[in-house]
Amino acid sequence: MEWTREERYRGLSSISNEAFESMTHKVNQSPWRQHFHIQPVSGLLNDPNGFIYFKGQYHLFYQWYPLGPVHGLKYWYHVVSDDLVHFENKGPVVYPDTTYDSHGAYSGSSIQIGEQLYLFYTGNHRTKDWERVPYQMAATLNDDFQVEDKQPLIEGSPQGYTDHFRDPKVWKENEDYYFVIGAQTTEQSGRALIYQGDTSFKFHLLGEIETGLSDFGYMWECPDLFKLGNKDVLIFCPQGLEPDGMNCRNIYQSGYIVGDFDLETLEMKHHGFVELDHGFDFYAPQTTISKEGERVLIGWMGLPDITYPTDVYNWAHCLTLPRVLKVKEDTLIQTVHPDVEKLRGRSKKATLEVSHDHTALDLIQPDCSEVNISILENEADVLSMIFTNQVDEIVKMTYDNNTGIFELDRSQSGELPSNQDNQKRSIQLNEDLQTLKIFIDTSSIEVFINEGTHVMTSRLFPKAAYQSCQFSTQSGTVKLETKQYEMKRG
Ligand code: FRU
Repeated sequence: MEWTREERYRGLSSISNEAFESMTHKVNQSPWRQHFHIQPVSGLLNDPNGFIYFKGQYHLFYQWYPLGPVHGLKYWYHVVSDDLVHFENKGPVVYPDTTYDSHGAYSGSSIQIGEQLYLFYTGNHRTKDWERVPYQMAATLNDDFQVEDKQPLIEGSPQGYTDHFRDPKVWKENEDYYFVIGAQTTEQSGRALIYQGDTSFKFHLLGEIETGLSDFGYMWECPDLFKLGNKDVLIFCPQGLEPDGMNCRNIYQSGYIVGDFDLETLEMKHHGFVELDHGFDFYAPQTTISKEGERVLIGWMGLPDITYPTDVYNWAHCLTLPRVLKVKEDTLIQTVHPDVEKLRGRSKKATLEVSHDHTALDLIQPDCSEVNISILENEADVLSMIFTNQVDEIVKMTYDNNTGIFELDRSQSGELPSNQDNQKRSIQLNEDLQTLKIFIDTSSIEVFINEGTHVMTSRLFPKAAYQSCQFSTQSGTVKLETKQYEMKRG
């Protein structure tokens, strides 16, 4: 169904409580509701926003269009948890209810100042002629986490940049506040800019981060800049990169550069852009510091401009599991946050000798599991791991021992999102395949390869849960150990 512009910009106040309830009822009829991922009660979820550990709890918000599976009038929806897995829905917090954010409260971040939580975000305003005017906003929340006040910090975009100017990620350093923000030059090149502000929140532009990536997509969304160990990391989402072999296969990319950033000169020395995830559905991640002081990342398990099979049930997308980031030799290692282990229930171990004939591993809880695989000996050429269900839908992973290429193929996995470049994604491993940690929820898979050296995240829309994993080789044998857990249903 095509949504008109007028329909997309209708907000929550345009419908009755009963009408909203009937929407959520329809959502709950969907066979693809997740068990342990954050998902919207109705409508569309996109970027995680305002992620913070504040006064003993995690607060996370996400971009939300309540009325349908489309990008319309965006709110910030709030979820809260004592840990990183038991999030409770709290409802919308930032409403698009001023002139500044009349056409959407777009992405941003949060910061604790004194005892209070401040949200920094982009107010998206459109004029009568539908010209976009971005406002960078600061909102303060009261003790009940409702917006107490919101003020524009910056109106429009700086000279030399277009109105694609959004997604401030704020931090404090010494006595000053800073934010990094996504921008587009008037020559249509993506950039990340840095602003500095004093305690009275007067912000001024310091300039562009000098990355040397001057012709690298037409817009950079959702930048995030932080220190990790003794390195600096800039995460950003360039739009408009061409596919390059196995890389950049998705409609938009999400990746990072690691190196040394100098806040005086704004120069960032690095060794090149690396994608964060090699699956089909990952975008616009955001990081924060966990309770334990680690850098944790949550991403949007979805992408813009794609139609998903859940759309007919009036909802779209979810967030990824939280990942801990570490730097190793100038690349990021992403391991699932240990809080996820709190969801583990019964477990089962197996040792398998895999050869040309299929060896099956039955899942103890098909639609809600963690499966760990350790390769003990690998004398095979190609190892295949195929998750299958009763109606012969399959998700196929293969590892080629000769080339080191790991592939995820979802072409026969069930219903498929539209507008995506083929249904196979692959990566070149620089080391042997040693371990896989796989999380399967009703409609997603997250595959952590070699202790988080690579990650592949994808939505899947099967008719029935994948109930077993069939291992086989083309020739030669593989000895492996598996340990699977049922995951508690949220
Ligand atoms: C990224 C993004 C952001 C923007 C938000 C709007 O997915 O386009 O740049 O702030 O979504 O929902």
